[in-house]
Amino acid sequence: MCGIFAYINYLTPKTRHEVLDLLVNGLKRLEYRGYDSTGVAIDATNTKDIVMLKSVGKVKVLEDSIAENLSGKEFDEPVLIHCGIAHTRWATHGVPCEKNSHPQRSDNDNSFIVVHNGIITNYKDVKTFLEKRGFVFESDTDTEVIAKLVHHLWKMHPGYSFRELVEQAIQQLEGAFAVAIKSRHFPGECVASRRGSPLLVGIKTKTRLATDHIPILYGKDDKSPPIEKDTDSAKPQVLPRSESTSEFMPLEEKEVEYFFASDASAVIEHTNRVIYLEDDDVAAVRDGALSIHRLKKCTDDPHAREITTLKMEIQQIMKGNYDYFMLKEIFEQPESVVNTMRGRVRFESNSIVLGGIKDYIPEIKRCRRLMLIGCGTSYHSAVATRQLLEELTELPVMVELASDFLDRNTPIFRDDVCFFISQSGETADTLMALRYCKQRGALIVGITNTVGSSICRESHCGVHINAGPEIGVASTKAYTSQFISLVMFALVMSEDRLSLQQRRLEILQGLSTLADQIREVLKLDLKVQELAKDLYQHKSLLIMGRGYNFATCLEGALKVKELTYMHSEGIMAGELKHGPLALVDDSMPVLMIVLRDPVYIKCMNALQQVTSRKGCPIIICEEGDEETKSFSSRSLEIPRTVDCLQGILTVIPMQLLSYHIAVLRGCDVDCPRNLAKSVTVE
Ligand code: F6R
Repeated sequence: MCGIFAYINYLTPKTRHEVLDLLVNGLKRLEYRGYDSTGVAIDATNTKDIVMLKSVGKVKVLEDSIAENLSGKEFDEPVLIHCGIAHTRWATHGVPCEKNSHPQRSDNDNSFIVVHNGIITNYKDVKTFLEKRGFVFESDTDTEVIAKLVHHLWKMHPGYSFRELVEQAIQQLEGAFAVAIKSRHFPGECVASRRGSPLLVGIKTKTRLATDHIPILYGKDDKSPPIEKDTDSAKPQVLPRSESTSEFMPLEEKEVEYFFASDASAVIEHTNRVIYLEDDDVAAVRDGALSIHRLKKCTDDPHAREITTLKMEIQQIMKGNYDYFMLKEIFEQPESVVNTMRGRVRFESNSIVLGGIKDYIPEIKRCRRLMLIGCGTSYHSAVATRQLLEELTELPVMVELASDFLDRNTPIFRDDVCFFISQSGETADTLMALRYCKQRGALIVGITNTVGSSICRESHCGVHINAGPEIGVASTKAYTSQFISLVMFALVMSEDRLSLQQRRLEILQGLSTLADQIREVLKLDLKVQELAKDLYQHKSLLIMGRGYNFATCLEGALKVKELTYMHSEGIMAGELKHGPLALVDDSMPVLMIVLRDPVYIKCMNALQQVTSRKGCPIIICEEGDEETKSFSSRSLEIPRTVDCLQGILTVIPMQLLSYHIAVLRGCDVDCPRNLAKSVTVE
C-alpha cells in the first residue's frame, strides 16, 4: 500500500540535497509495501514556493529525475528550518500516472499539498461541493479533495492555524486515511493525521529527550455535520476551534528533526524514538514543537501519547548478502522461530509462559469457542494449527477469512474468544473483523509481528510473534512464527491436563529441535532450484496433501501465485477424486506431500491415484522413506518431526520453490505486481 514519509528539520541545518536524499531514502525503505508511482516536495530555493517532482514506476526513477531537475549550487546551501514530504502510491482512484501521483495540490501555487494513504469514501460529495465553489480538479484521485478542502477553509478563515485548518478538514472526510500536509503559507510546518491507516512520528534530538510522552490537547466535544450529498447548500460546517490556548507547549526542543512515516522501517536509521498516532490524532510540527490534538475527548482516552523506543535494528531491514529480502527472510527462519519461543518456552521445566495473555487464560478456558481470523498467509497459519488447537484445548475452533467473516455478519457471542492473526497488524479486513467482534463483547487476542500496530493496540491481549521485520511482500518467516505462536498457545491451554502430558512433551521435544531441522531443510535449496528449472515454464502447479499438511498446500500455492504469476492450487488430497483428479495427466505438474503421520495411508492412496493417471508428482517425504520415494523420480526429503509441527518443515521447500520459479521467470520477487505488503484498504 501507499507509503508516507515526511521530514522536518528545525535548527538542524540541512541542504536541500540532503533533504531530498533523506526523503528518497525514506521512500526506498517503504518500497516493500508495494507501489506504482512516487512523488516528493520541498521548498523552492530563495522563494516561498514549493517544488514537486512526481514519477511513475520505481523510486529509482524519481531519484534520477531529482538528479536531473533539482540540482545546482543553491541546493547545496543549508536551510535551518524546512519541511519536505514524499510518497509512494499504490493506485486506487485513477491509473498510475504523474497527475495521479502524490503530493496532490490545492492550486497552481501549491498553497496546500497532501500525501495520503487509504481511501476517502465521500470524496465525490466533497469534490462536488468544492467544484461549485470554483475549484478545478486535475487528477482522478480522491486525495485531491483534501488539499482543496484545506485551501477552501484557509480562504474562509484567515486567522486559523495550519493545524486548525487540517483539523476542520478531516472532520469532513469519511473513510480510512493517513495524511501529511505541507503549505507554502506555513513554511517549515507539517500537519499529519490518521484514521484507520498507520502513521507514526519519529523524533531525533541531539540530547536525550526530557520526556517520554506528549500530552494530548483536546478541542470542544461538538459534532461536525458532514458535507451532504451533492446539494448546493452543503458546506463544511466549521467546528469550534480547539479550546487549548497554548498550542505548542508539549515537546519543544532547540535542535530537532521530526519524521512522519507509514512504518518504523523508514525512520529506524535516524531515530528509535517514535510515537504511534491513534485514529483522529492531529499531529502538528511548528517552530520545532510537536503537539498532538484531538477534537473530542472520550472517557477512556489517555492524557498523553507515549514515546516508544523501537527495538528494531537497521541490519534487520537491510538485504545483507542476499539478492532479495524474501530469500533472506526464508533463511532467517532457524533464528526467527527461536526468537518466537525465546523467554516463553522453558525446555528444562517443560513449561510455557505467554506473558501477553497469561492473565486471560482462565477466561479463555471458559469460552464457548475459539475463532481464528486472518487473511492470506496469516489465515493459513490458522488452518495449519486448528487441528492441534482442537486436540489440546478441547474447544470448538473456527477458522475464518476476515473478509468473508464480515460479509456473512457472522454471529459472535460474549463468551467467544477471537484471535486476529496479522503480520502487519494493519490489514483492513482483519481490523474491521476485530472491531466487529469487540463490539459484540468477545475477548480479542492479537497475534501480530508489528509492535504498535492497530491490531496490536486494539486487542485485549496477545502474542507478539517476534519474527523481526518482514520486508518481502510474500510472507515467509512470519508464517512459521505465527504457527509456533499458536502451537505455544495450545500448549499453555493444556498445561494442567494429565491425559495430554505425553503429547505435550513430544511437541516440546519437537520445538526444541526445530531450528536445526529448518537448517537441514534449507540445505535442499540447490535441489529445489533444479526442480524449479523443470517447472518454471509450465502454466500451472497442483499441490496436494491432507491433515497437518493441507495448510502447506494452500500456503505453497499462494506463494507460487503471488510470486510467479503462475496458476497454482492447493488441493486437499481427500478431495482429489471429487473433481481435481480430472486435471491430472502426464503433463500436469503435481507436487504431493506424503509424510509418515496418521494420514499416511490416505496420502499414499492419493499418490497412487495420481501415478496411475500417468501423473509424475514431485514428492515431499520423510528422510529415508524409500517406499514413498519409489513412486517418483523427483523427491525432497525432510527430517522427521512430530506430526503437528511437520507443516513448519514442509512449507520451507514451497517458499524456496516459489522463490526460484519467480527468479527464473524474471519476476520482481520482493514486490510482486499489483500486491502490497500491508493491505490497508478493504
Ligand atoms: C502472502 C501475504 C498475504 C498476507 C495477507 C495478510 O504472502 O503476505 O497473503 O498474509 O495480506 O497480511 P497480514 O498478515 O499483514 O494481515
